[in-house]
Amino acid sequence: MARLEGRTALVTGAGAGIGRSVAERFAREDARVIIADRDADAAASVAASIGERARAVVVDISDESSVEAAFTEAAADGWSPDVVVANAGVQLFGQDAKAADLDLDVWRRTIDINLTGTFLTVKHAVRAMLASDGGSIILTGSPTGLTGEGQDFTAYSASKAGIHGLTRTVAAAYARDGIRVNTVVPAYTETGLVSTISDDPESRAAIVSRIPVGRAGTPADVEGIMVFLASSDADFATGALFAVDGGMTSL
Ligand SMILES: NC(=O)c1ccc[n+]([C@@H]2O[C@H](COP(=O)([O-])OP(=O)(O)OC[C@H]3O[C@@H](n4cnc5c(N)ncnc54)[C@H](O)[C@@H]3O)[C@@H](O)[C@H]2O)c1
Repeated sequence: MARLEGRTALVTGAGAGIGRSVAERFAREDARVIIADRDADAAASVAASIGERARAVVVDISDESSVEAAFTEAAADGWSPDVVVANAGVQLFGQDAKAADLDLDVWRRTIDINLTGTFLTVKHAVRAMLASDGGSIILTGSPTGLTGEGQDFTAYSASKAGIHGLTRTVAAAYARDGIRVNTVVPAYTETGLVSTISDDPESRAAIVSRIPVGRAGTPADVEGIMVFLASSDADFATGALFAVDGGMTSL
């Protein structure tokens, strides 16, 4: 049985990786999906592969006018989302570093997209949901925001810890408005984002050895929890972190 019939979801970073997988799954659960990505070709191609149930929009989440325009355009077309997955993010491999070696510019570029961009997505999602009947906002966190896992990635890890905090604050502020806010925490998941690790057998083996179930995550691994959080099954779930990480954060 389709679990998201009648819902409209906007997924940022849906041109690739986890966002793409989640958007495709939402469509299979009968939701309409807005594929929001700064990569116009990737967004168009994912939307075309899904078909009528999808549309693409080019958004840079770090630019407020771009985020606002995406929500305004969706509302004008009758596609105002009641599910928003604030998932787009970057990890600047080769630049992000331990604190003493981290350039301020790399810190700022990471925070601008991962934390400020997620905040802007959440801000305009809340506005859209206040203007309708509420909804579900789902953020993508990381084990690096919870443990010392990201010791070589100070900016990335701090941005993800910020997302975890944003989840709780916004959830509490809008709980009475029927808006739920939760974060999904995937483990190391093999997408283009982490090809620096997956292309290097030694680095890959080291990170997989820190996942108790003994394998890397795939984008499909997080689809189920995203469907649950988007659906009415999760009506009493808000302000929480949901780890689907093969036990990585249990260590
Ligand atoms: N892959 C992992 O191991 C892993 C683990 C935990 C959390 N995450 C998080 O999951 C999310 C998705 O990661 P992924 O692995 O699917 O990455 P990915 O690189 O495969 O896909 C990210 C997508 O986001 C888009 N994007 C990047 N910056 C953007 C911006 N400013 N505006 C709009 N779109 C933008 C990219 O074009 C791309 O399509 C990220 O927030 C990431 O931090 C990933």
